Amino acid sequence: MTPLAPPMALIAELTHRCPLQCSYCSNPLHLDAARNELQTRDWKNVLTEAARLGVLQIHFSGGEPMARPDLVELVAHASASGLYINLITSGVLLTDAMMSPLLSAGIDHIQVSFQDTQETSADRFGGYHCGHAKKLEAARRIRESGLPLTANFVIHKQNAARIREMLALGEELGAQRIEIAHTQYYGWALLNRKALLPSRAQLALVTEAVIDAQARLSGRITIDYVVPDYYAERPKACMGGWGNRFIVIAPSGKALPCHAAESIPGMVFPSVRDTTLGEIWTASDAFRKYRGTGWMPVTCRNCDRREIDWGGCRCQALALAGDAGATDPACSLSPHHHVMHEAIAAATDAALDLIPRRPGLLPAQGA
Ligand code: SF4
Ligand code: FES
Repeated sequence: MTPLAPPMALIAELTHRCPLQCSYCSNPLHLDAARNELQTRDWKNVLTEAARLGVLQIHFSGGEPMARPDLVELVAHASASGLYINLITSGVLLTDAMMSPLLSAGIDHIQVSFQDTQETSADRFGGYHCGHAKKLEAARRIRESGLPLTANFVIHKQNAARIREMLALGEELGAQRIEIAHTQYYGWALLNRKALLPSRAQLALVTEAVIDAQARLSGRITIDYVVPDYYAERPKACMGGWGNRFIVIAPSGKALPCHAAESIPGMVFPSVRDTTLGEIWTASDAFRKYRGTGWMPVTCRNCDRREIDWGGCRCQALALAGDAGATDPACSLSPHHHVMHEAIAAATDAALDLIPRRPGLLPAQGA
């Protein structure tokens, strides 16, 4: 048997607190409360252990990681531990006063997310007045500091028409990388799917613009394109395979193979408060449950893509087929593939009210 490689990256969800309220957020519907968050010393232990385990990259994420007052201290600790540090932020809290301590602490890269290119639409979507203007300032600040910048745009029905403006904005901001990511339908995004899922015509428009830009900007700017599962014939290799490349630490300290894993009922996820990262990675039932190919249903087990996409996404299989151990319905070989077509057919009304991501704002059961 091949020995288990260490995780390539650790995603540290420092907090679920966030000044924005994006309706496509993939955070769980039940957000961790601030009082349950790991303390600074706990996070430092996690970072030290991660480096010892062989993790190469740390992604500080959330919620909004900049809502944690100890972010600079944690960046400095990660840097001293030899980790490559990426900050995934909305940018609205990235002031001049924050930029220079982050640089001194050893940050390597920052990713800023944008809701749109039109200020009114972006601010409406993020639920944050003047948020778009603050993001533009943050992106310029990052570039002026000399740090590499990734500009991330999440695509959905209500902003897809502005794809060419998004690519132009990323270029104008001097981003090294532009990420055009179709919404991934977990958490709040799944709740709002009817109002977010683009039409086939919109998808074609976005794809064409991305292909044009990839050709035009080749060698200058990398353009990543995350396609929507709902129009796919084969699923994505979610997280590069369960327990294969990533380890996610939720704000409360639970260790998860992916950000949505807690949606799977009956699973118990170990906490970094009780167990070492090494134990969690190599020996916990949660990480072993869907690792590799042994757990796969027969459709995947007999398929030559089984070690390419690893059967797709467990959380999507649960959400759409009712069974986390099923072939991902994004795969046309899945007996549940029809649910993707049904979802597309149902997502015709862009005027539907969106449910903003807000603690305690869940619709009533059955609504
Ligand atoms: Fe991937 Fe399973 Fe579909 Fe094969 S059958 S393409 S392994 S999801
Ligand atoms: Fe959980 Fe894909 S989001 S496995």
